[in-house]
Amino acid sequence: MLRVVAAMAALAIGATVVLAQNAAVIEQRKQAMKAFGGAAKGPGAMSKGDAPFELPKVQASLKTIQETAVKAKGLFPDDSKVGETDALPAAFEKKADLLARLDSLAAAAKSAEGAIKDEATFKAEWPKVVSQCGGCHKEYRKPK
Ligand code: HEC
Repeated sequence: MLRVVAAMAALAIGATVVLAQNAAVIEQRKQAMKAFGGAAKGPGAMSKGDAPFELPKVQASLKTIQETAVKAKGLFPDDSKVGETDALPAAFEKKADLLARLDSLAAAAKSAEGAIKDEATFKAEWPKVVSQCGGCHKEYRKPK
């Protein structure tokens, strides 16, 4: 009996550790998404005419998006499916598609980085990048 209790206590501790790890990854995932949000904000305002076009800021945002997309690929482990997360279960069930979307976002940001030279090219290229955000949210993020 004592042994069973000890084993159960050990299991409970193990489970707590796993949960703590989940919370950490979920938090990192949210931080990565916030970095996406931060990077998209300035160019978003520029695209609406609410801020003047500034090429260096746009290029910096596109670099952040590329780096963050690579990082985000490691932030959807199966043990981060439950907890304080807005990720839908589908995100983990169709992980190959989810990861492909992050590759596609990085590729779109890279291609935009090369193609944007002025305000006109910015206005043509920027929507190709941000449409990828909404596409993934629609499939894999809880609606607000
Ligand atoms: C591969 C799919 C995918 C792509 C691409 C993606 N997101 Fe997300 N995003 C998610 C998921 C899933 C969540 C929910 C994360 C959670 O709560 O664990 C989320 C959450 C967020 C959040 C809320 C973060 C918080 O504070 O909880 C913001 C902001 C965000 N995304 C912005 C963006 C922007 C901007 C882009 C494009 C540059 C983008 N995302 C691209 C899937 C994606």
